[in-house]
Parts: sequence; structure tokens; C-alpha cells
Amino acid sequence: MKVFITRVIPEAGRKLLLDAGLTLTEWKEKRNLTTEELIGHCQGHDALLSVSTSINAEILQACPNLKAIALMSVGFDNVDVAAATEAGIPVSNTPGVLSGATADAAFLLMLATSRKAFYQHKKIAKGEWGFFEPTADLGIELNGATLGVFGLGNIGIEMARKCVGAYGMRVIYHNRNRNWEAEQKLNAHYVSFEELLQQSDVLSVHTALTPETKGKFDRSTFEQMKDTAIFVNTARGGIHNEADLLSALKEGLIWGAGLDVTSPEPMDQHNELLELPNVSVLPHIGSATVQTRDAMAMLAAKNIIAGLNGDQLPNVINPEVYS
Ligand code: DGY
Repeated sequence: MKVFITRVIPEAGRKLLLDAGLTLTEWKEKRNLTTEELIGHCQGHDALLSVSTSINAEILQACPNLKAIALMSVGFDNVDVAAATEAGIPVSNTPGVLSGATADAAFLLMLATSRKAFYQHKKIAKGEWGFFEPTADLGIELNGATLGVFGLGNIGIEMARKCVGAYGMRVIYHNRNRNWEAEQKLNAHYVSFEELLQQSDVLSVHTALTPETKGKFDRSTFEQMKDTAIFVNTARGGIHNEADLLSALKEGLIWGAGLDVTSPEPMDQHNELLELPNVSVLPHIGSATVQTRDAMAMLAAKNIIAGLNGDQLPNVINPEVYS
């Protein structure tokens, strides 16, 4: 059985696949495959292990031979899941294993933004570390602040846990459904979306990108937030409107922003956001630790192996494909 892999993945995942007797073809070029290239490869393989690759209906319709598609990510907004189900192909993701690392990135961005850390670093690198000025470039403190979580799932809970532990922050959240466990464990309070905007000192986004959440944070939402608030997004860049975020920061509607995700990715190096003192941007590295990337690659590999053994994928996201 043959598996096509769209990027170089950690050895831990490759080893599981090889030990299962599978033959691997790995795309090693540092560019995205075209639709035609992906179809060509998938037609000659039994399964696809996909990392950050768009999988559209055209690809899925052309490759009904695929017995499994395992994504090495928790997000699956880049896959036409309905078309996969239509083509009879089970698709899996990697939930749970990246929650701690991604929440670390959100925490890092919150703290770095609150002290303008990335800006201060750039100032030193540009030779602009002048004399000590007691009133220059001051940050804000997080002790006792209110954390607002938009999307309190695994990653949001980890972020909330860190914020409660480190700063005794009060946690409020807004979800489609209430998370009773988090309410009990973290004393988190469910609020309406408007209350989330109005009460958060730090508003951290941890929801999936869906038609419902696309562009959710725009001028009208930034206008409702505190002018001292920090906006953090480690989920997907498409959830905030970048032009509106820039103007909200420049006009002082909110205080700062920490982003691990942008739209588009990569962000243009001349993007004005990179010049603002109260902004910290990372290149989508939420899950980028040795331990987490190993765990993600291994989980994706286990899903492929299950699919090629004729079993249900343990982390299937379209279980209806089996009915
Ligand atoms: C995920 O797993 O969804 C991360 O954002 C990497 O794409």
C-alpha cells in the first residue's frame, strides 16, 4: 500500500508508517502542490497524509481510490469535507495533541503584546536603545484581568488554565454550546458575544474558521471592545478582518494585538501591523514544538494505518462516510 505525504513530516510519524509496511512518497519541494499535481500523485496512492494543503472537490472527485486522508492539523477549513464524504473518503485530523503548545503561543502573544516585547527587541536591533526613560513605551499588567475566550474547546481551556494560574485572571467565554466542565474547573462564565467584547481585557480566539466565524472580528466588534484590550488570534487569520484590525489599533479602539495567524499567510513583510509597537506577530507556529509535531505526525500516521487496515479512522471528522 502506498501513502502520499504533502510535506516533510517528523521521523516519528514516518517510522510508524514504514514499520506498518507502507511505501511512502514525500513531496519535498518548498512550494504548494498544484491541484493537477496533487491529483496525479493521489491517483497512484492508497492514502494521503496532508499537511497544510488545500484539498478541493476537484481533487476528491478525481481520487475515489483514496482509502483515507489524514490531516496533520486540528483545523480542516482547507478541506472540502462534504466532497470527501460524497467521494466515500474518510478524513481525520489531530485533535488534543497540540492544545498545550498552541495555548502557549497564545499566552506568549498576550504577554509579549502587553509589554511590547517584539517592538522593544526590534528597537535594540535597530540601534535605538537610548537612555532610560521612565515614561516611554510602557506596557500594561495582566494581574486580575479578564480573559475572554471565543471558542472554549481544548485549546481555549489550556489558555484559560494558564491565565488563571499565572495571573488569577477571571475567565469569561462565548461558544455555540456551553462548556459545563470548563465552567466548573475554571470558574469560567458564559457570556453573550457582546458581553465578551465589552468585558474582556484580553480576548483570545480559539474557534475554527467556518462561514459563521469568517470575518467575525471587524470594525463593529473592535468598536465594542475596551480601548485597553488586547486581541489575540492563534486560530485562523480569516476570523479577523486585518484592515479593520489595523485601523482599530491605529485609532486606539483597542490597545494591542498578538497574532499567530494572518490572512493571507505568509504575511507581507511590509505589512503595517509589523511596525506598530503594541503588535506581536508569529508565522503560524502554534504547534511548532518537537514534542507536539511528533505527536501530530504519529496521530496522522495511526489514522492512515487504521484506514488502510479497513478500520474506522480513530479521529475521523466525517463519520457519516461509514453509514
Ligand atoms: C492546526 O493544527 O490547525 C494548526 O493551525 C496548524 O495548521
